[in-house]
Amino acid sequence: MKRIVILISGRGSNMQAIVQQCAERRWPAKVVAVISNRPDAKGLAYARERGIETAVVDHKAYGTREAFDAALAAVVDACEPDLVVLAGFMRILGTAFVQRYEGRLLNIHPSLLPAFPGLHTHRRALDAGCKLVGATVHFVTPELDHGPIVLQSAVPVLPGDDEDALASRVLATEHVIYPLAVRWFVEDRLAIEHGIVRQLDGASQVLM
Ligand code: GRF
Repeated sequence: MKRIVILISGRGSNMQAIVQQCAERRWPAKVVAVISNRPDAKGLAYARERGIETAVVDHKAYGTREAFDAALAAVVDACEPDLVVLAGFMRILGTAFVQRYEGRLLNIHPSLLPAFPGLHTHRRALDAGCKLVGATVHFVTPELDHGPIVLQSAVPVLPGDDEDALASRVLATEHVIYPLAVRWFVEDRLAIEHGIVRQLDGASQVLM
């Protein structure tokens, strides 16, 4: 059984999708803890209801990023994770943290990376006149919203779309691709070769 730790900052809908599929589809894995940097993260209540251990490492209690990262790493390490999943975790993690979990740290970003790393991706995609937008699951490297791409989803931008409409269309696909990518990881179906992720069974790594 692979041990999964999920880090959240808010609503936690991607975390919920992963928790549900892990339990219902009997992955060879268990979500052993959900950790938030915000005490008021809505997703914590869901995890508690499901009997999953939760913890808060409040970034406001630490004077530096390094101190916060070290405290977070101590809590994560205590869970002995095989995989650490960033699911709407809104703190930038430093190089030491990222390297500690290299190859077992995943993130989802609501854009078709490498386009639009950072915040306000849907606004920026609309401003750029994009006709397709999407989401990316990737292994985390020290560079923000960068790293070997596991899976991407693409959806059209429709006439009249605003930021909220795009965000919800993309989010629906996140709830498909993130659980799928995590399942591939826990089933040892991913390999990284020269920075490129290969799905060993040859499954499509694109959701259209
Ligand atoms: C998602 O859009 C994710 O791509 C981004 O933050 C949002 C988190 O949503 N990183 P949720 O907390 O999983 O509902």
